[in-house]
Amino acid sequence: MTLTVLSVVGARPNFMKLAPVSRALATRPAVRHIVVHTGQHYDAELSDDFFRDLAIPAPECNLGVGSGSHGQQTGAVMQRFEPLCVQLRPDVVIVYGDVNSTMAAALVAAKLGARVAHVEAGLRSRDWSMPEEINRVVTDRVSDVLFAPSRDAVANLRGEGVAAQRIHFVGNVMVDSLIAALPTARAAGAPARYGVAGRPYTLVTLHRPSNVDDPATLEELVETLTALAADAPVLFPVHPRTRARLESAGLPRAPNPGLRWLDPMPYLDMLSLVLSAGVVVTDSGGLQEETSYLGVPCVTVRPGTERPITCLEGTNRLVPPRRGAVERAVLEARRTRPQTPPVIERWDGEAGARIAAVLCDGVRFD
Ligand code: UD1
Repeated sequence: MTLTVLSVVGARPNFMKLAPVSRALATRPAVRHIVVHTGQHYDAELSDDFFRDLAIPAPECNLGVGSGSHGQQTGAVMQRFEPLCVQLRPDVVIVYGDVNSTMAAALVAAKLGARVAHVEAGLRSRDWSMPEEINRVVTDRVSDVLFAPSRDAVANLRGEGVAAQRIHFVGNVMVDSLIAALPTARAAGAPARYGVAGRPYTLVTLHRPSNVDDPATLEELVETLTALAADAPVLFPVHPRTRARLESAGLPRAPNPGLRWLDPMPYLDMLSLVLSAGVVVTDSGGLQEETSYLGVPCVTVRPGTERPITCLEGTNRLVPPRRGAVERAVLEARRTRPQTPPVIERWDGEAGARIAAVLCDGVRFD
């Protein structure tokens, strides 16, 4: 009996989560694993480059949904995924993370009666203004198998009434990808290529609507980075939506040699830069986890996080998008860099293998 497993991915952070699951399922002869790309992210820098760096086979189908409002994007994924799901009749549909493609594919699969498995289940920011929080809650509600990355995620699901036997504490697939990529990333030498080797540079990513959509907030953040660049170089790979907001706000107002605006980066170059950074300033979910695993100080420009373990056990601290708060946190983070990276339960490179064991062998991970 062949088990047909369909993985649906659409946006950059999904690809890092797919890679270890794809590798683990490839070792199972009785599994037919089909990858569907919704096309939510379509620029090579946000999509193809990641498939290359993570050595994931090219998706069998691309739904080509592209950009749009939340309703348009979610609706387009649902309309285009439904006939494919009917045609392929998967035993399991795996969805990843919290992007619009995740929720849209989960809804379609659940209504067609397929078994839905959610990788990275149970994360909660409790902030309904984040589109991702809505995506997380809806996806978990319609999923049959919930793969939690941390004990707090398990507790959130139990608190919402999800039956214990549907929840599996498998660990963190992002960390699987990171561990697999470390030797190549160490050899990639990105700091030297960007002229910052041996310097305590700050690495920045910002793309959340709460930070980049309001021109006054965005301007204050640009001023903050300009001030930080006086002490040490600041490297800022800019997400396309941030680039568009900067352009429409006429920012930055003046060039600053210490603050380097870069294109979005491939996975291995980014990891290579994270490894040697003095501090990372971000609003990304994945970077909060990657810095925690590596013991690199992280300042997250957000009022809360769905990944509290990165603050409690890792190297993360939260700040509002205000100049004084970010500057203070960066100085403090640099001073308190841990001697050895923290050890977080089941962030060990085995999450993908555990997921395959649950789906193929019926194993439980409490
Ligand atoms: C999405 C996810 C977010 C995730 C982020 C990672 C949702 C609701 N949000 O946000 O959780 O952290 O991906 O990158 O799903 N664009 C391009 N090229 C592309 C894709 C997008 O230029 O390949 C531009 C377009 O102007 C587009 C904008 O980026 O309108 C936003 O893209 P979208 O996919 O809607 O959301 P992200 O901000 O990327």
